[in-house]
Amino acid sequence: ADGCTGRAVVLDAALDVTFRAICEMLIGPQEDAHKLGQLQSDVMDVTQAMLALPIRLPGTRFYRGLQARKRIMDALRQEICMRRENGLKLDRRDDFLQTLLLKSHMDSPEEALTDEQILDNILTLIIAGQVTTATAITWMVKYLGDNTDLQEKLRSIQLDLASKHHDAPLTLQHLNTMDYAYKTVKESLRMATIVSWFPRVALKDCQVAGFHIKKDWIINVDARSIHYDPAVYDNPTLFDPSRFNVCIVVSLKKL
Ligand code: HEM
Repeated sequence: ADGCTGRAVVLDAALDVTFRAICEMLIGPQEDAHKLGQLQSDVMDVTQAMLALPIRLPGTRFYRGLQARKRIMDALRQEICMRRENGLKLDRRDDFLQTLLLKSHMDSPEEALTDEQILDNILTLIIAGQVTTATAITWMVKYLGDNTDLQEKLRSIQLDLASKHHDAPLTLQHLNTMDYAYKTVKESLRMATIVSWFPRVALKDCQVAGFHIKKDWIINVDARSIHYDPAVYDNPTLFDPSRFNVCIVVSLKKL
């Protein structure tokens, strides 16, 4: 929140929330706020370097990303050392890093992940999960801000659920009961299309919906066009979570 004007920048707040949540899931709760802040800013530098020209000169975005990646890997290596020194099996943590460390400790040497592979997995998941989820939250706030009737409906359902659970901490079981919230997330993901397209390489000649696709062609899945296709979603520019009350099935012929 901006103390002077009372404004909050939703994306910034969402990035903080998703970063903390993802770190907790992957490497456990982080007590040291300074270290966590450094890690967050390093992860952002790596994320931005992924979209930069690959010029390894000091001062470029790409170079900053490489330096940041080194710092992240060093910090994670230290964390691994500390966990091994404390005795892996005695440690009662249940985060993803611990799962990978225990697995590689028990696997045969040929099967076990190396430390570098474990670190790569952790960093990949932080990058894949933080900005995407924060962007989705931000768009959902925007759509609910534009559709206050739906916002009120969602709020009253959620408050009702909370009072039934006596405001106890949320668990995965609670999430499974949040039907309308789930549909609101799906509708926000449809309309915002966080990742607009993603490529595939054809491994062999094939046919899709009457189109001939040759081996080695790169095919882009155009998610945004699908999300806004009236043959798939009625009235596609309307924000309407209840469209997911029914299962949406589309035949390729219709597209
Ligand atoms: C709203 C949030 C998210 C969106 C919109 C999103 C979107 C996507 C998309 C479009 C892909 C590519 C799919 C493909 O090419 O097949 C992908 C892949 C992936 N995402 Fe996410 N993602 C989100 C959250 C997350 C989170 C929270 C994590 C992990 C903590 C994650 C981890 C991954 C991974 C590991 C892959 C690669 C999977 C593979 O190798 O096939 N994503 N995501």
